[in-house]
Amino acid sequence: MLPQEIIRKKRDAEPLHADELQFFSQGISDGSISEGQIAAFGMAVFFNGMTRAEAAALTLAMRDTGDVLSWDNKELNGPVIDKHSTGGVADGVSLILGPLLAACGGYVPMISGRGLGHTGGTLDKLDAIPGYNTIPNNALFKETVRNCGVAIIGQTGNLAPADQRFYATRDITATVESIPLITASILSKKLAAGLDYLVMDVKTGNGAFMPTHKDSQILAQSIADVATAAGVQTTALLTDMNQPLGSSAGNAVEVREAIRFLTGERQNPRLREVTFALCAELLQLSKLADDGTEAHSMLEKALSSGAAAEVFSRMIYSLGGPHDIISNYERYLPNAAFSKPVFADESGIVSAIDTRALGMTVVELGGGRKRAEDHIDYSVGLTDFIALGEKADQPLAVIHARSEDDWAAAAAHIQAAITFSNEPSHISPIVHEIIHAQ
Ligand code: URA
Repeated sequence: MLPQEIIRKKRDAEPLHADELQFFSQGISDGSISEGQIAAFGMAVFFNGMTRAEAAALTLAMRDTGDVLSWDNKELNGPVIDKHSTGGVADGVSLILGPLLAACGGYVPMISGRGLGHTGGTLDKLDAIPGYNTIPNNALFKETVRNCGVAIIGQTGNLAPADQRFYATRDITATVESIPLITASILSKKLAAGLDYLVMDVKTGNGAFMPTHKDSQILAQSIADVATAAGVQTTALLTDMNQPLGSSAGNAVEVREAIRFLTGERQNPRLREVTFALCAELLQLSKLADDGTEAHSMLEKALSSGAAAEVFSRMIYSLGGPHDIISNYERYLPNAAFSKPVFADESGIVSAIDTRALGMTVVELGGGRKRAEDHIDYSVGLTDFIALGEKADQPLAVIHARSEDDWAAAAAHIQAAITFSNEPSHISPIVHEIIHAQ
């Protein structure tokens, strides 16, 4: 087979077979296909798209360029399930959802990423916990999933290596924004964890990765269809990102929020609604629950009995963190030097929030990276956000900064990001749509 023939076929909108996509993916991974050929292929797909069958074949081909975990179901005694999100602001769902699902009988081998742009990354949040090892070897990862029901870790070097090289080329050749390529990129990494079922959280709104609601819908449908065609039954939820999801954005602040949520100390209702909707979908897909009512009562019980908090605690300890994180989190999680609320300099009702700008404010405070090699300050961030429809007589947020100067810069950004009006305005639903594979 010749790479240029595969590129030509895609250029001329002819269908590609699975063996051609396997050959191309293997060539990306082993270096036998040049960067120019990868770029040309990416552009041909960008313009001519892919059928669902082609995207599923590309997903599996890229997945198979690296390690693929397999789980012995007899040993695990339950379905292997997971969630993936396109990324948001104050989106601490993973830290809560993993333990909740495990407490309901699922096994969750969650391979997460670092922060990207204005969105936070689960791995950076977990790195705020002293001792927690986000890159354990396979044996410890598997042992933690087996014993605790969940392990949240980072991507190892050999997970879908074709995607790493393909993504780097797409990034510099204006071909990131292709639905089949985004689908295959996300799913090749996710499916390498050996899942039985997946739920996808596709964000829509001004803090979302996709620019329009229509694009988010198309991506959600593509992911549900392609993952299901690739053998992992998947549903996608379209959820709102026109304001921060939870009460905290940053790293230690989001771990604190997750612990308080799991123990029942404080539960942000929006975060709860999205987390429960995603969990309920997975519990039904995997037949751990017969219907939504049963799923919701299982989730309530996992929280009120303390089972989910206990799972979180055991996972943290198993992966090297403290044994008493739940009862002593304030001792372990770093606090910023300068924390103070910021207020509005006008009156009215919150009518719009530039969610992306709030995410970038966390990056500016030092809680995210501007360049890949940047170090993160785990203590900084934003908490206690005002919500759409609320009055300006309360703080817009509490800013946790390294210094008073950093605080003042963040305060100006937050004031500029929040718009007020005198009329109550439309507030989007939190879960817009549940998209099943077709
Ligand atoms: N995230 C990914 O992992 N891949 C893409 O192509 C886009 C977002």
